[in-house]
Amino acid sequence: MKQFANEFIFGTSTSSYQIEGAFNEGGRSLSVWDTFCAIPGKVLNQDNGNVACDHYHRYQEDVQLIKELGVDSYRFSIAWPRIFPEKGIYNEEGMLFYKQLIHELNEAGIKPFPTLYHWDLPMWAYEEGGWVNRESVSWFLEFAKTCFEQLDEHVFSWITHNEPWCASFLSYHQGYHAPGHMNIEEGLKAAHHILLSHGEAVKLLKQELQSSTPIGITLNLAPAYGVKDTYNDMVASNNADGYTNRWFLDPIFKGSYPIDMVNLFSKYVHDFSFIQVQDLETISVPCDFFGINYYSRALVEFAGNQSLLFTNAYSDYPKTVMGWDVSPEEFKQLIYRLRRDYTDLPIYITENGAAYDDILEDDGSVHDQERVDYINQHITAIQQVNEEGLNVAGYFLWSLFDNFEWAFGYEKRFGIFYVDFATQRRYWKDSARQYQQIIKNRGL
Ligand code: FCB
Repeated sequence: MKQFANEFIFGTSTSSYQIEGAFNEGGRSLSVWDTFCAIPGKVLNQDNGNVACDHYHRYQEDVQLIKELGVDSYRFSIAWPRIFPEKGIYNEEGMLFYKQLIHELNEAGIKPFPTLYHWDLPMWAYEEGGWVNRESVSWFLEFAKTCFEQLDEHVFSWITHNEPWCASFLSYHQGYHAPGHMNIEEGLKAAHHILLSHGEAVKLLKQELQSSTPIGITLNLAPAYGVKDTYNDMVASNNADGYTNRWFLDPIFKGSYPIDMVNLFSKYVHDFSFIQVQDLETISVPCDFFGINYYSRALVEFAGNQSLLFTNAYSDYPKTVMGWDVSPEEFKQLIYRLRRDYTDLPIYITENGAAYDDILEDDGSVHDQERVDYINQHITAIQQVNEEGLNVAGYFLWSLFDNFEWAFGYEKRFGIFYVDFATQRRYWKDSARQYQQIIKNRGL
C-alpha cells in the first residue's frame, strides 16, 4: 500500500451558515442568506439555515465524532454576524462560541483551520452596498482583526475567503446565491473588493500583528474543456476558464487581471477605475499555502448568444446528483497546471466531495458506495501527483455532515455523516467508515 507522508493533513470541512443553526441566538444578527432564504423561489422548498445541523448547540458531541473519525484537522468558518451583529459593535458572546469550539478541537488533538468568510455577509453590510462598496474592505478587516486577536494563538491556519467566485459572480452577477443580484459590473466590483480584503487581511496578520500562523485563500477551480476541437469551442473554453479560474488566479499569483477578460467584460462595463493599480500589489501579497475546492471539470461549447460566448455542454461522464461530472483525471491536470503556471506554495484541497441520494436503512446504515468511490478516486489522484513531487499538503473532505446546501436547501446530501434533520441524529455512512480507515492507514 502506498502511504501519505505523516505530515499530510487529512481533514473535513463545514461552514457556519450551513451547519450552525441558532440563527437568532448568542447575539447573532441576520446575514444575507437569512434574508435570501425568506424570498420565495430562491431556495428549494424555501429551506433556511435557522436550525441546520444545530451544531451551535451540539458542537461538543460533534467534536467527539470528528475525533472518532480520526482526522488531523477540521475546517469550519466564522459567522461574521455573530462577531459584528451591527456595524462597529463587537459581540463577545458570538466570539465565545468559536473560542469554545477551538478549545474542544485542541483538547481532542484536532487542528482548527478556520475560514473567515464563507458567505454569511451581515445584513448591515449589505444595506450599505455589500461587497460592491469598496468600504466593505475595511469592514472585513475589522472583523478579521478581531478574529486574529482573539483566536490566532489557538488555530493551526487561517483561510481568508472561501470561493470568491461564488461570493461575487454567483451572487451578484448570476443571482443564484445571496444577495441574488444580476449585474455583471456588481459582480466584478464584488470580486475585486473580496480579493482586496484578502490581501489586506494577510498583510494585517503578518505585518501588523507579526503572527507566524499560516494564512491563505481558497478558490473553487473548474478546469474548462471545449466539446469539440474547433476554434469556436476553444474560444468557449478560454472564456469559461477566464471567468471561473483566471479572473481569480491571475491577480493572486501574477498581480494582474487577464486582459482578454477585461476586453470581453468591457462590452458591458465601461469603467474599470474601481481597480486601483496598487490594489493588485496587495492582492498578490505572498501567502503560506493555496487552497482549492475541487468538485468537477467544466465542459463547455460556443454560444454566440451568451454574453461571454460559452454555455455548459452535455457530457457523458458519470455524474453526482448535482449533475457534476466525476472527473478525477481532470483534477490531476488542474494541479499540474497550477504548478506550471501559478505557484510553488503547498496546496491544500480544502474541499472535495459529492452529493448522492442516500438512503438511511432501518438499522441505521447508509451504503453510499458511489461516494466511497468518488473519494477513493480523488485521494488516489492526490497520491499520484504527490509521488511526482507536486506537494499537495492536505485533503479536506466536504462535508462532515449533510447540511444546508445553499440554493438546494436540504435536498442535496454531501455529508459522510447522515443527518436526520427531524431528530438531529448523526449516522455513519459507509464513506465515513472508509475515510476513517484511509486516515488510519494513511493511504488507500
Ligand atoms: C462549495 C461550497 C460549499 C458547499 C460545496 C458543495 O462551493 O464552498 O459550501 O456548498 O460547494
